[in-house]
Amino acid sequence: MDAGGFALPEHYPLCAISSLEDPGSRGFVIERKGGSLALFVVRRGEHVMAYENSCPHTGINLEWQPDHFLDLSGSYIQCATHGALFRLEDGYCLRGPCAGDSLQSIEVQLEAGQVVVILRQ
Ligand code: FES
Repeated sequence: MDAGGFALPEHYPLCAISSLEDPGSRGFVIERKGGSLALFVVRRGEHVMAYENSCPHTGINLEWQPDHFLDLSGSYIQCATHGALFRLEDGYCLRGPCAGDSLQSIEVQLEAGQVVVILRQ
């Protein structure tokens, strides 16, 4: 939608926060006019973060099985290909071939218990 020459933010409800494990993660693909966007959300307590599903090392998807983006301890996001570890709260890579880089974060908020991604053009 266009309002006077600039696009309004698009809201995409994804799921109920209560449907996510704690800690837990889930992948989604959002279909948009310009193409599809692969992303995943991570829950820790009542906090939810969202990131593009693309490792900064090679651009490949991160999960090792559908919806499994965390390491076995549930403390870090882990890339399945070469094992890079990322902080849940900001996607910063602490260890691995892309150490010092970050996942591309996506704006997300809770609306009445629903996890909602907000995309701005
Ligand atoms: S592709 Fe993710 S660490 Fe290499």
